[in-house]
Amino acid sequence: MKLILLGAPGVGKGTQAQFVIEKYAIPQISTGDMLRESIKTGSALGKKVKEVMESGALVTDEIILDLVNARVRQPDCKKGFLFDGFPRTIPQAEALLKESIHVDHVIEIILQEDDIVARLAGRRVHVASGRIYHNLYNPPKVTDIDDVTGEPLIQRDDDKEGTIRVRMQVYRKQTEPLVSFYKAMSDSVQYSLKYTSVDGVGTAEEIRDRIFAALSD
Ligand code: AP5
Repeated sequence: MKLILLGAPGVGKGTQAQFVIEKYAIPQISTGDMLRESIKTGSALGKKVKEVMESGALVTDEIILDLVNARVRQPDCKKGFLFDGFPRTIPQAEALLKESIHVDHVIEIILQEDDIVARLAGRRVHVASGRIYHNLYNPPKVTDIDDVTGEPLIQRDDDKEGTIRVRMQVYRKQTEPLVSFYKAMSDSVQYSLKYTSVDGVGTAEEIRDRIFAALSD
């Protein structure tokens, strides 16, 4: 199983990725998580990336493609993988084709902007594990504390309302064209790719079941 979870910031890609990777026993390749890891190392790359991410803009295709190309060649990706937050531009999608990295499914999650802002503004994250909470919709047992480790949760720097709006604009301009790109591929006899749009309104479990239904069709 090789798939892409596509959708605007905050539609629930990371939340749904957890269900899919568990069911299909494949790794999650989240370029956002990989970039946040590089920031933690304090490397020159990390410093460059931090500024870009905090502004809500996209990191260059070159940096992203270097990270992804190295990651998909790891042995755990042999039987499949889930791309979360990648590709995000047409050149990134074209680079995958050029490298002969093909996916079976593209699942697009759709949600209105006001719901997205509410979800991101309340998001809290346990950095070490990637566990995602929401202070209203999926609260931890103790406020701002991870249920499993007891460690503190953080609010991402790019989850401030002003930055969220910038990220939405960037999504519309640079990432949304991928919807037509992949729909055209799924209509073409040249590729065996299936495209499904999933309504992102509902509980995480309801959305999970819509995705599982699409994947098992
Ligand atoms: P990235 O980390 O990829 O962030 P994103 O795509 O903006 O997506 P998010 O992680 O914000 O949201 P999500 O859809 O995963 O939602 P989640 O499940 O957490 O990218 C960050 C930055 O890195 C970019 O801005 C860019 O700078 C850079 N970058 C990354 N990849 C790049 C690339 N390929 N090219 C260039 N630059 C790149 O859910 C959100 C909240 O909602 C949570 O609190 C959750 O608990 C809650 N929630 C989830 N589902 C539900 C539900 N059904 N009901 C109620 N609440 C829910």
